[in-house]
Amino acid sequence: MNHFELRDGVLHCEDVPLPLVAQEVGTPVYIYSTATMQRHARVFKTALASLGEPLVAFAVKANPNAAVLATLGVEGLGADVVSGGEYRRACAAGIPPGQIVFSGVGKTADEMALALGGGLFQFNVESLAEAEMLSRVATSMGRTAPVCFRINPDVAAGSHAKISTGGAQDKFGINAADLMRAFDMARELPGLEAHGIAVHIGSQLTSLEPLKTAFTRLGLLVAELRAAGHPITVADLGGGLGVPYDPAAPLPPSPADYAALVARITAGWGVRLVFEPGRLIVGNAGVLMTRVVRLKEGPERPFVIVDAGMNDLMRPSLYDAWHGIEAVAPRGDDMVADIVGPVCESGDTFARARVISRVGPGELMVIRTAGAYAATMASTYNSRPLAAEVLVNGSEWAIVRKRQDVEALIQGDIVPPWLHTGGRAQGTPGPGGP
Ligand code: LLP
Repeated sequence: MNHFELRDGVLHCEDVPLPLVAQEVGTPVYIYSTATMQRHARVFKTALASLGEPLVAFAVKANPNAAVLATLGVEGLGADVVSGGEYRRACAAGIPPGQIVFSGVGKTADEMALALGGGLFQFNVESLAEAEMLSRVATSMGRTAPVCFRINPDVAAGSHAKISTGGAQDKFGINAADLMRAFDMARELPGLEAHGIAVHIGSQLTSLEPLKTAFTRLGLLVAELRAAGHPITVADLGGGLGVPYDPAAPLPPSPADYAALVARITAGWGVRLVFEPGRLIVGNAGVLMTRVVRLKEGPERPFVIVDAGMNDLMRPSLYDAWHGIEAVAPRGDDMVADIVGPVCESGDTFARARVISRVGPGELMVIRTAGAYAATMASTYNSRPLAAEVLVNGSEWAIVRKRQDVEALIQGDIVPPWLHTGGRAQGTPGPGGP
């Protein structure tokens, strides 16, 4: 469910007509709905209501915009971060450090020190070597690091290979055979307090089966660890629940179905549960609005060339992801077209042979389900500045990230002294030369 709907033939986000945003901010532009984010946060938390007081830590990687994080912070969500940058952005947006989980396979000593200094709920540690480094950092600071070991449950998530993380060959987590060793080691190492175990098997999961297998394995490990005298007080079940992209595809499991599964499997564990949803909270709360540049004839059907490209939204080119694409003011008759961006790669294709409302040059379109893993994965490839981002709240709206200026791209580069020739190279040394 989301708050992007046609009213009087024009797509609105909540009470704001999208053409108004295009007129004021230009295109391409990301537009997020506060009401949709709030709804998703509340639906998820309500579904989990029977599970004690779980920590719901929003996976910041899905959308790190400060306004998005602040909106979710007000809803009582914490943050799951995977870098010093995400940690700082979560804190800056007002997420209490005590509700921050630090995940990721490659945390550096500096990142560990940052989070230990500012405080956090736990580090999700993914290897023995990482535990050793964390112990050294914590000891040097005179702190104790709260640790949850992430296991690799070796289950196939059934999602796209690039976003599945729970297979034995994936880089994530500690395999079950080494887990006891990790806890024994953590007990000996100074500066660590291992209090739980975590699992995250992948993203955009459309079946509960792999989660059931993973959570069941986690439960067996909780029992084994306790039997060996390790006090387990936290179980982090990760994120991963899929969202509907294609209305013609079967609906992914609902938060209520997911929560019922969790309740069944975790009954009797006696732990505080942690969840790390990302896409579920923000995926359908955003669209990427773009303007048609021109139509170009193709051998079988026209190309609709829009002013957003794969640099703005990578998901179709990276994962062959399907995104809904619609005209902002549909005319009522349809066409079949390939919708493509301006970037110089054939992979810069948002959809092939898609039935869309007929559009012409200058008309606005939206690419849906662009609230998660969209703006945050953008690049400036082809020297295209990063798109603006807008947050809508009822009839109010605000730019929450300014469109990047090409000047910023130019200014970011540094030309070394030997090239300071005042323009075209003359073959003579520059001011810093010999
Ligand atoms: N926790 C951990 C440890 C994760 O690695 C992830 C996502 C999440 C939570 C949140 O998962 P979610 O609830 O959003 O499924 N760029 C890809 C998705 C990559 C997901 C990476 N990890 C995409 O566009 O589909």
